[in-house]
Amino acid sequence: MRNVTIDNISDVVIHALADDITPRRREILTSFIRHAHDFCREVKITHGEWLEACEFMRRAGDISDENRNEFILICDILGIEVLVDMIDHPVTEGESCSTVLGPFYRENPPVLPNGASIIQKDFPDQETVLVRGRILGTDGKPLAGVTIDVWEDAPNGLYEQQDPDQPDYNLRGRFHSDASGDYSFVGIRPVPYPIPYDGAAGELLNYMGHHPWRPGHIHFMITKDGYRPLISQIFDSETEYLDKDSVFAVKEDLIGELKKAPAGSKTDYVMDFDFILKREAMAMAAE
Ligand code: BEZ
Ligand code: FE
Repeated sequence: MRNVTIDNISDVVIHALADDITPRRREILTSFIRHAHDFCREVKITHGEWLEACEFMRRAGDISDENRNEFILICDILGIEVLVDMIDHPVTEGESCSTVLGPFYRENPPVLPNGASIIQKDFPDQETVLVRGRILGTDGKPLAGVTIDVWEDAPNGLYEQQDPDQPDYNLRGRFHSDASGDYSFVGIRPVPYPIPYDGAAGELLNYMGHHPWRPGHIHFMITKDGYRPLISQIFDSETEYLDKDSVFAVKEDLIGELKKAPAGSKTDYVMDFDFILKREAMAMAAE
């Protein structure tokens, strides 16, 4: 096709897709091409702006490696990770909400007994919290043997892999619900922290006039065979930034209350929080 025009270029590119690509690939590419072209037409993008965007993406690639994916951060601050999560994990049976995973999960955290502390290094200003609750099915019955990975930032606002002064796997642990579906661990009251803004994601935040801060939260990854894995966070009801999270991940149902612990307790606070898991569609079909 020669002599493409502003008006026919989208059809021309879509027409060039090979006949034998999968239907899903065709659906994604067709929609992507249409939206990307419409965006350029709508804002009348200039050549300089397009080049600037390409350079921005090059810088995002340059700063990315196996430990840092700048594109995920960029998606986060544009609300794309949370949107994808809501599309792919709709709440259909009263199960707990999921939210973004973020870049700080590490596999194989220390396996700890219920009630154990994930604090390997004390900070002078830390406040401790006993987090406890039950893991239930959507039928309200307790689920035993559920794997619960937790991770959180330290009182200096850094996850252990960002901070050479914290022990390996500090503030991380893997717990298992007991026969009554109960889990519990001791952590610290989570503090707000800025997402990494020393790269392209930070440039974009500046461009948006937005800040990098996240409200204090504790991450959870909850898995059990036959159940839909749940990636979620509990947000401290009193934390700053609850209504202005830089990655838009807060859900009302994920806000937990830290209550002052009774006198004589080992921790400063107690937080009760239950999670509800939904059966995996495949597992239900097999029954
Ligand atoms: C986090 O909660 O760890 C996180 C989520 C999105 C971007 C950066 C950090
Ligand atoms: Fe986090």
